[in-house]
Amino acid sequence: MPKMTFIERDGNRKVVDAPLGMSVMEIARKGGVDIEGACEGSLACSTCHIIVEEGWLAKLKPASEDEEDMLDLAFGITKASRLGCQIVMTPELDGLVVRLPKEIRNLLEA
Ligand code: FES
Repeated sequence: MPKMTFIERDGNRKVVDAPLGMSVMEIARKGGVDIEGACEGSLACSTCHIIVEEGWLAKLKPASEDEEDMLDLAFGITKASRLGCQIVMTPELDGLVVRLPKEIRNLLEA
């Protein structure tokens, strides 16, 4: 079973099982990581914003234009920002490390 690591807002590193074919957003939720994913992966929010750790960005498929547009609405975006629902676990991504942004736009609290 592939694994991935989430660096939580308090700096804690959480290693979770990352089943192939699941999105990073789904993996986070399954592993008890605090990520909202309000639109359930339909590219209509940005509450699954994550920041990919160095070295991993090049291994990901580039973001689509729709993903880029949605990311523009997220707080605190960086060059390594992606939407967690758009990254699907593959064998090559075993060990992936992503960070939760400090600032989030939580639709349920907006
Ligand atoms: S869960 Fe809404 S864009 Fe990813």
